[in-house]
Amino acid sequence: MKGIILSGGTGSRLYPLTQTVNKQLLPVYDKPMIYYPLSTMINCGFTEFCIISSPEHLPLYERIFGDGTQFGLKICYKVQYKPRGIAEAFIIAEDFIGNDTVGLILGDNIFHGMARMKPFLEGGIIFAYEVNDPSSYGVVEFNDDNQVISIEEKPTEPKSKYAIPGLYFYDNNVVSYAKTLKPSGRGELEITDLNKIYLEKQKLTVIKFPRGTAWLDAGTPETLFQSGAYIQSIQE
Ligand code: DAU
Repeated sequence: MKGIILSGGTGSRLYPLTQTVNKQLLPVYDKPMIYYPLSTMINCGFTEFCIISSPEHLPLYERIFGDGTQFGLKICYKVQYKPRGIAEAFIIAEDFIGNDTVGLILGDNIFHGMARMKPFLEGGIIFAYEVNDPSSYGVVEFNDDNQVISIEEKPTEPKSKYAIPGLYFYDNNVVSYAKTLKPSGRGELEITDLNKIYLEKQKLTVIKFPRGTAWLDAGTPETLFQSGAYIQSIQE
């Protein structure tokens, strides 16, 4: 299992905080944001990582984590020249992934209470988390038998309350599937389109987060603040 942490993007929703600082290095209580997704992946059983970020910010991550030895990890680094979409990560990290399975976590997603992943070989595994307003996320719809009927990216009229958090696990086909994607209306290779490929092939498992698991997307001023407060109360 190879792990990717995607830490680029423009962080435009956090301007002016992100005018000179990369979003995923902003403090969440007492640590840089990226520590949280990294520790989530370590808890899931990953030890080999590729951190992907923009050319200007990637050297900062190298300074923080080095080759990972001090944490008992192996960490390498790859540049994403423009934020051309989350799914581009699998194309950028093709050599790193090799013949392995892969997990991808977004550098601004904070999870608490995640269970360890069992090693997996086939298909894709994503998650569903009930929120009041899922319209700014990927949204997954289930039928009465708990089967997935649809997946949509930021629908104006969401068909369910289930948002898809930024944590994804795939078999090795993900690299070739990512290469077939076309940029969406917003000019990005969408992770939702990748999930739709797995869904069409009936190879997608969607796990509803059990009660007691928390998910925060720290990408806005409100959620960044909430994340810090949450971590402080958990730690203390
Ligand atoms: O947070 C979960 C949501 O993340 C999912 O529910 C959506 O399906 C997914 O599209 C994504 O939505 P966002 O609009 O929140 O994605 P955003 O553009 O904010 O990017 C998420 C993170 O990935 C952020 O830390 C920046 C990084 N990123 C994003 C893109 C598009 C990159 O490093 N490179 C990119 O090209």
